[in-house]
Amino acid sequence: MRYAAITGWGKCMPPAILSNTDLATFLPTDDEWIASRTGIHERRVSHVSAHALASVAGARALACADLPAAELELIVYGSCSNDEQIPNSASGVQFTLGAGKAAAMDVNTACTSFLYALSTATAMIRTGVVKNALVIGVEVISPFMDWPNRNVSVLFGDGAAAVVLQASDEPQGLLGERLGCYAEARHTLRVRGAGFTYARGTVVFGDTLWDFDGREIFKQAVVGMTEASTEVLAKCGHTVADVDLVVPHQANLRIIESVAKRIGAPMDRVFLTIARYGNMSAATVPVALVDALEEGRVKPGALILMPAFGGGLTWCSHLVRWGERTAPLAVSDAELPPCTRSALEMVREFMARHEPAGRSNEGLMAPVLPDDAAVAAPGLDAASA
Ligand code: ACO
Repeated sequence: MRYAAITGWGKCMPPAILSNTDLATFLPTDDEWIASRTGIHERRVSHVSAHALASVAGARALACADLPAAELELIVYGSCSNDEQIPNSASGVQFTLGAGKAAAMDVNTACTSFLYALSTATAMIRTGVVKNALVIGVEVISPFMDWPNRNVSVLFGDGAAAVVLQASDEPQGLLGERLGCYAEARHTLRVRGAGFTYARGTVVFGDTLWDFDGREIFKQAVVGMTEASTEVLAKCGHTVADVDLVVPHQANLRIIESVAKRIGAPMDRVFLTIARYGNMSAATVPVALVDALEEGRVKPGALILMPAFGGGLTWCSHLVRWGERTAPLAVSDAELPPCTRSALEMVREFMARHEPAGRSNEGLMAPVLPDDAAVAAPGLDAASA
């Protein structure tokens, strides 16, 4: 049986930090409420497009695997905040990286998009369709966040990370997964204004309002992540005692603690990033995986469990066997262009764009981000050479 080993990894975090105290300058909230109810202390706000973050993360992952972009056969781009719908986002990364031979597809299952993308790419390697793949999890949510809504705007952040998969005869990479969806609860998380159905009407395309039932999502998330984890462990012939590290989706620290308790995983075996990044939707799990590697928390041969949930409400849990190598083979010099504004300044700009005067179809043609054209070109050629 052929496997799909994870041989490269890399992340790209936008540098601008938005603290809870920053949020309290324009919202009726405070650091104590946010930190105690969610575990979040700060999050990142991107000054560039999702394409730029994804391309730099992808270049870093390819360098880590020492795989030239020209040899890449598949790019799967997991996200629900695509810069454009047509053309797809993976094709933009293919172009920027110079991965001319690669098939390019997008996967959107909201916060679980990276993990569903990992399943897709692994299946295509295991069935011999391709020999390798770049799997990306990326979100730039801040430009269409419903900032005045404190129930939701304190929870999210921007970021990106990617992994490289390569065919292997060793039992490595994704060993098994359980994927599912509670579609009857899909109304609990809906972004009105983010889709072509909003071309007309009171909420127009790009003028986003979030329908968000935090309590209901919380309950469903705990059940879905727990059941998926229990099932995938049983399916793969393991128990939670075999798991070296849990790298969960990070939407709320209390959700993670509740899932860990129900599956019987001690918190010292759960890797947390929520305090510093918040919920980055599809980017959360891959960024946490890269941070865990960089902090030495992933040992050679480690068994890693990755439970997640997202809008839909999609849910899943993935069981991964790490290989022997936990250090990069090479380092990319790909970098983002410098950020000249604070996170709070950028958020105030996003909010100004959503004020009533800007609520018309006029805004449809405006660039999503001021620096959208400045895609991170420096270093990408070297990484893909
Ligand atoms: N600051 C201060 N007070 C707040 C804030 C805030 N940011 N948000 C809500 N409150 C208030 C509420 O108005 C309420 O006040 P009231 O009692 O006077 O009515 C009070 O705090 C309690 O609100 P609850 O909703 O009961 O708070 P709860 O403890 O349930 O926490 C939260 C809310 C953090 C949203 C939690 O339910 C949660 O994390 N749910 C999961 C949501 C999530 O992460 N979704 C991600 C979806 S993934 C994807 O695919 C995008």
